Amino acid sequence: MSAAAAPTILAIETSCDDTCAAVVTGDQIRSNVISSQGIHDRYGGVVPEVASRHHLELANVVVDDALARAGATLDDVDLVAVTQGPGLVGALLVGVATAKAIAAARGLPLASVDHLQGHVAANFLTTGDGPEDKPLEPPFLCLIASGGHTFLANVTEHDGFTVLGRTLDDAAGEAFDKGARMLGLPYPGGPHLEKLARDGDPSAFTFPTGRGVSGLDFSFAGLKTALLYKIRDLGGGSDPSALDDATRANLAAAYQHAIVESLARRCEQALAQSGTDRLAVGGGVAANGPLRDRLATLGVTLKVPPRALCTDNAAMIASAARFVPPHPFPEYLAMDAYATGERGL
Ligand code: KG4
Ligand code: ZN
Repeated sequence: MSAAAAPTILAIETSCDDTCAAVVTGDQIRSNVISSQGIHDRYGGVVPEVASRHHLELANVVVDDALARAGATLDDVDLVAVTQGPGLVGALLVGVATAKAIAAARGLPLASVDHLQGHVAANFLTTGDGPEDKPLEPPFLCLIASGGHTFLANVTEHDGFTVLGRTLDDAAGEAFDKGARMLGLPYPGGPHLEKLARDGDPSAFTFPTGRGVSGLDFSFAGLKTALLYKIRDLGGGSDPSALDDATRANLAAAYQHAIVESLARRCEQALAQSGTDRLAVGGGVAANGPLRDRLATLGVTLKVPPRALCTDNAAMIASAARFVPPHPFPEYLAMDAYATGERGL
């Protein structure tokens, strides 16, 4: 690698149920491979032990595929990057062991990346030729809403962020998944609930939007309970199929509206407090159409990366790795994964 050339990074991400590898040079994504383990759908959620076993089977294949799609070999790689945490420890360990083995075999440095910093760093990549596809430079606010995390970050540097608010209970994606389950929809529930809600009226029912929560934090547990009681009061009991289709669609629309409002109002509040007029969104929930539409009404510059960069992926880990000091060989051989990060997220 010449001094001026951007390093080529091979990144691995296995924090939950997606086995991911990517090759990134500078802010250019050369490949971004995501192998989703559809096996968890039948259990209604991710089973950690099953996730780890599948990562073991998939890790080498996914890495080979990422290199092949990038038209690269390990000879072209300058740095290996891996998600160290937070996440499912057994799942993370597979990625960490794979990354260590590849890096050590080549005597390459290894960058350990925080998964949440990765979600933020998805915004530092070029995603196309349009002006909206250029990297977003700090400062900006960033809402991350996934199945495992929901927080609002103040991003002032490339290598860190401060948490302005976080969920006090469930993540927004978890609220979508649990609500969907109560309405008899399959896992992961977000996209199914969004689809059902298209035929419904969001004002047919009123659900709590976390207004009672102080500051910029979020809460979705009360919303979930409210839906449970509403289904019961409507005669659905524990069997949502006892409700007619129109009622289920109205419930889905009103429930989604409450989640979208909770997220959007906090963003609006945070933007007003920080004086920033730029907002980025990440995590699987960023795929939600009504959320995107609502955030677009805030009158600020809104950046929503392509879906493959919003959900868990390794290109975002490579992007974050560009800004963390790498561990030289063989220092990283003793490196461990962590379930919960310093921020308590
Ligand atoms: O980021 P992600 O792929 O995985 C992690 O949780 O880390 O996010 C998955 C979450 C699930 O809870 C899923 O239901 C939600 O994102 N999700 C959606 C939509 N697509 C995915 N929620 C609402 N509307 C969607 N269209
Ligand atoms: Zn994630």
